Amino acid sequence: MYNIRELRAEFPILSRVLPNGKPLVYFDNAATSQKPNAVIDAMSRYYKTYNSNAHRGAHTLADEATTALEAARESIASFFGASPSNLIYTSGTTEAINLVAYAWARRNLSEGDAIVLTEMEHHADIVPWQELSKEIGVELRFVPLDLEDMCLDMGAYRHALQGAALVCVVHTSNVLGIRNPIEEIITLAKESGARILIDAAQGAAHERINFKELGADFVTLSAHKMAGPTGIGGLLATNEALSQCGPFLTGGQMIKSVSTDGSIFRDGAALLETGTPRIAEAIGWGAAIDWLSKIDFNQMHDHIKSLAIMAFEGMSQIDGITVYSDPTRPGSSGTISFLHERIDSDDLAMLLDEGGFALRTGQHCAQPLMDALGVASTNRISLWLYNTEEEIKSFLSYLRMICERFG
Ligand SMILES: Cc1ncc(COP(=O)(O)O)c(C=O)c1O
Repeated sequence: MYNIRELRAEFPILSRVLPNGKPLVYFDNAATSQKPNAVIDAMSRYYKTYNSNAHRGAHTLADEATTALEAARESIASFFGASPSNLIYTSGTTEAINLVAYAWARRNLSEGDAIVLTEMEHHADIVPWQELSKEIGVELRFVPLDLEDMCLDMGAYRHALQGAALVCVVHTSNVLGIRNPIEEIITLAKESGARILIDAAQGAAHERINFKELGADFVTLSAHKMAGPTGIGGLLATNEALSQCGPFLTGGQMIKSVSTDGSIFRDGAALLETGTPRIAEAIGWGAAIDWLSKIDFNQMHDHIKSLAIMAFEGMSQIDGITVYSDPTRPGSSGTISFLHERIDSDDLAMLLDEGGFALRTGQHCAQPLMDALGVASTNRISLWLYNTEEEIKSFLSYLRMICERFG
């Protein structure tokens, strides 16, 4: 059974009362999720009892740190149906995509090659490719949205694929909560001979992603959106893709040997991790993954979906509110963007904050999507496994009150 009360009790921050006396209602999970005690304790245990550098010292603490770092890699890789040797620790999705752009694309693409992106991408999956385009002249093709259905225009995607070398697509939109038809997108990319990268920063927090079954060449992850700490995430890459990579950051750890004449590099994932690893963060992410492994993702999804539909229906009935999401669509993540036609989005967020509701406002690092929607910004609630029906009800009544008073 999905016991929301027991679940919430594992997240100390959820019982926080804000300085104005309002209890916190945390609806900003697409930005970052809260962390359970299991994660906070694992990181604190590392710092309190075996803080040491990994893969280096010949002493007990260093052994313990190395063992914990690699045990975390095994848990995380196994959770995503991958081998530990296919997981590269990065600071998150942004660094993982840059890693692909630097270590793989700069070596395997050249002027005239085409990269397929979508209007739904986060800036993290746009700017690295624009930089590459400036540098080596690759062509960027943006697949538009079908605005009627708020989903990707798959006909345009098929067309854009012709002769493309790489496809980079977001699994689940951080603005609309829409899950793209990733399986079909990957199959079509493979059939056309393109490599494919999936930005799973949002998707991985909402469904079990199996790297091998998915069949993408690259999948990018951010731990902090799935109960883990900030500062860590990963790139899952196939052996074939890894074998085509050159170094990204150079220095310690990624080398076999160094002399004054030059250096010999390591292979595979080891080539792409340089310097002191993110030890505490990896241990924290491993603890988050162990914690998430106990959650039934189907139940979690049903829970979030029912809350999102309740919020969506309630918001759609409030005079002046336009909703830019459809949580009834299969796989939607519980992220809902909305705007009031007369109340400025920043003012609305501030008024909601006074009521204890933490949500995001702005362009959500997705300006091309904002342009496609024809808006400068949106307000966004994003729900996760610990949100409750009571929170949605109190949000709707507070939002209604604000709209009646200020709208
Ligand atoms: C879809 C998507 N991609 C990429 C990112 C960037 O992730 P990070 O800031 O963890 O590197 C985010 C963060 O919000 C996101 O939602």
